[in-house]
Amino acid sequence: MNSSIFFFEETSLVNSLSRQLHIKPCLGVIHYFPDQETSVRINPDDVTRTCLVFASLHHPNKISLPLLFLSKTLREYGAQRVILVAPYLAYMRQDKRFHEGEGITAKYYAQLLSDYFDGLVTVDPHLHRIHDLSDVFSIRSHIAHASPAVAKWVAQNIMDPVLIGPDSESTQWVREVADKINAPFAILEKIRRGDHDVEISVPQSERWLNHKPILFDDIISTGKTMIGTVRHLRRAGLAAPVCIGIHALFNDQTYNELLEVGAERVVTTNSITDKSNAIDLTETVAGSIQSLLSSSL
Ligand code: R5P
Repeated sequence: MNSSIFFFEETSLVNSLSRQLHIKPCLGVIHYFPDQETSVRINPDDVTRTCLVFASLHHPNKISLPLLFLSKTLREYGAQRVILVAPYLAYMRQDKRFHEGEGITAKYYAQLLSDYFDGLVTVDPHLHRIHDLSDVFSIRSHIAHASPAVAKWVAQNIMDPVLIGPDSESTQWVREVADKINAPFAILEKIRRGDHDVEISVPQSERWLNHKPILFDDIISTGKTMIGTVRHLRRAGLAAPVCIGIHALFNDQTYNELLEVGAERVVTTNSITDKSNAIDLTETVAGSIQSLLSSSL
């Protein structure tokens, strides 16, 4: 494929994508000035007609401005199409005015990215009140799904699993994985009172006593959702669960707390690099990139 893939940070996923798609991996460099302004620099010889820009957006405020600068720079050196490959897409949870006076940042962030890129590939974005990326993005997008890779991992590693989603929003991912491996699933009820205050109810837990609980959610961030669920399941007498998150937004403290409250293991995909990564997304993301590139943008 006559394209290049640019990144500021080398990850296992960007390396495997470049190998799988035969795309040249190209390191971009961010320079931070003493006042924290930034400049970006690429090797002009790397620029192809179509350029991919790879970055997971888990620290969006820090990385977004350099990415916009990178897109502009690539265009000035001759790129005709610049596609953002963002395995984790930020700001999607701020999809409504939760409190009077707040901005709906999901919409503003999508508009900003749409102004600078010609297309977007991402993995299971948090679509809740926004039903489709085209509701907020004006560029063409393609969603790669983690569920086939998650289902494969569960089938290969777990006997008698029951998939458990901590809230109604997780139904879309949990049902898909359960269906693929013919396993039962249950969706719990979550009440979130604040960033760090989450209550989970566990109905009919006695049905799952002979199964291995697999908690599955799109995002593990503060971990409060998973931690609350693990506590309830353990109190109800269920086996130590495996916690699977698509996007590992948590820190080491949260990871340790999940194990302390009774999780057997925390497993994530490589959409964001973390020591818990065990599920590889190369195939699905590569497929989405190919689909997007073969469509007219
Ligand atoms: C929210 O609706 C998401 O699907 C996750 O359940 C949530 O983002 C997890 O957040 P935390 O780890 O902070 O509880």
